[in-house]
Amino acid sequence: MEKKFNADNTITPKELAKHLRQPEGDTGKEVGLQMNKGNKHICLNSYQVLNPKNKSHILEIGMGNGFFVKDLLKTADDLNYTGVDFSPIMIDEANVINKPFIDSGIVRFEQASIEKLPFNDNTFDYITTTNTLYFWPTPEDNAKELLRVLKPGGKILVAYRSKSCIDQLELSKYGFTKYEISDVENLLSKSGFKQISSKIIKEPDLDFDGKVLEMEGIYTTGIK
Ligand SMILES: C[S@@+](CC[C@H](N)C(=O)[O-])C[C@H]1O[C@@H](n2cnc3c(N)ncnc32)[C@H](O)[C@@H]1O
Repeated sequence: MEKKFNADNTITPKELAKHLRQPEGDTGKEVGLQMNKGNKHICLNSYQVLNPKNKSHILEIGMGNGFFVKDLLKTADDLNYTGVDFSPIMIDEANVINKPFIDSGIVRFEQASIEKLPFNDNTFDYITTTNTLYFWPTPEDNAKELLRVLKPGGKILVAYRSKSCIDQLELSKYGFTKYEISDVENLLSKSGFKQISSKIIKEPDLDFDGKVLEMEGIYTTGIK
């Protein structure tokens, strides 16, 4: 029998990998809640690295259930946030969790894929995306689509785990494309971004599946 994976032994690594790529149904909802724990540091650090200016409009791709949107909104004054995810259950969850911000008109969520974003050219001041790069279907085309909707002078941030970091997880065998920093910098450069740079931020070790994992996030930024 294939090894079971999470605390109550209900999900295999292969199934968990599928839900990390696109959470679905009740299991997807639970995986979304677990991501808020395992990805807390990389999500919060990504917003600090993004460091938006007051009054800017931010697009996030693949925000999952949007639990950390509240933290992004604290990084500057008068921010406007749009979250895009192709998982219907994550959009539903994000809408519930962020209802007060949606009601006040500063946050909205759209179900769409990174492949074709429902926005005009030059719409956003900032684009951020965390732990989605492994799943981009055609990375150069997808980065160009992000470039299209970013304003001239706008900033993109791609946050991800290194190959060695995710190789610690058995689930990374199932459908993850792994990247080194140079791969991501080349991808952004070939897609038309300028002033590309990367930083690594170490995180506390993570207890996962009975193992202690060494965690770090990589944050690659570029300018249109
Ligand atoms: C591993 S989760 C990361 C969630 C959150 N950013 C975090 O780090 O905890 C990946 C998220 O990206 C979304 N996603 C994956 N591929 C996508 C695509 N092609 N277009 C839009 N969203 C996508 C998934 O539905 C999922 O919610």
